Amino acid sequence: MTEDEQKQAAAAKAVDYIEDGMVLGLGTGSCAAKMVDLLGKKVAHGLYVTGVPTSEATAAQARALGIPIVGLDEVSVIDLTIDGTDEVDPEGRLIKGGGGAHLREKIVASLSDRMIVIAEAKKKVPQLGAFKLPVEVIRFAAPALKPKLDALGGAPTLRLGKDGAPFVTDEGNYIYDCAFGKIDDPEGLALTLSTMPGVVEHGLFIGFADLILIGTNDGVEVIEV
Ligand code: A5P
Repeated sequence: MTEDEQKQAAAAKAVDYIEDGMVLGLGTGSCAAKMVDLLGKKVAHGLYVTGVPTSEATAAQARALGIPIVGLDEVSVIDLTIDGTDEVDPEGRLIKGGGGAHLREKIVASLSDRMIVIAEAKKKVPQLGAFKLPVEVIRFAAPALKPKLDALGGAPTLRLGKDGAPFVTDEGNYIYDCAFGKIDDPEGLALTLSTMPGVVEHGLFIGFADLILIGTNDGVEVIEV
């Protein structure tokens, strides 16, 4: 199976968990986009759901597919969020934010009764940290935070867009991609980053995933967290 087929298989398995009438958190990224495509087909065949997109890109995709979407002013509880990941460890801890949407993704996940994570096989890792940890910062604080993240061992690199200018998130912030290497204490690092003034959100998702669906060459691996 190609990676694309693995993503497709995980996405297809995830939509089986969607029930009529649900309020759904719609993730961001290539794997989540496959799930949204499949959801669009179900909606076209009469399924009724309300989507809460985690990015402008996902909102645009959902609109194009005719999936009803709302903002957080219209819902207080989300039944289920389905989202991709950049890494997942054996305890279901995640690194997200490769697509720059982890701020909204974490907010939506935090409001969700259940989170299903979908990914291709290579995202399952024994230890988090090979993937650079995205840290979203407010622009004003970016120059001051660079040495602080460096002092933590993060070797931060300001994320750039395709045009070479700093990448700006949907919420108007910058991202430092931090090369911590293997992260021995994800909880401790998450706490440290969360308490740094100017850091808006980091890509460590701890305690969010309830079910992980990994597309593999032998089918979809289902991991209950
Ligand atoms: C978006 O910011 C991310 O959190 C994505 O969910 C994550 O990067 C996975 O994306 P892919 O499915 O495209 O690898």
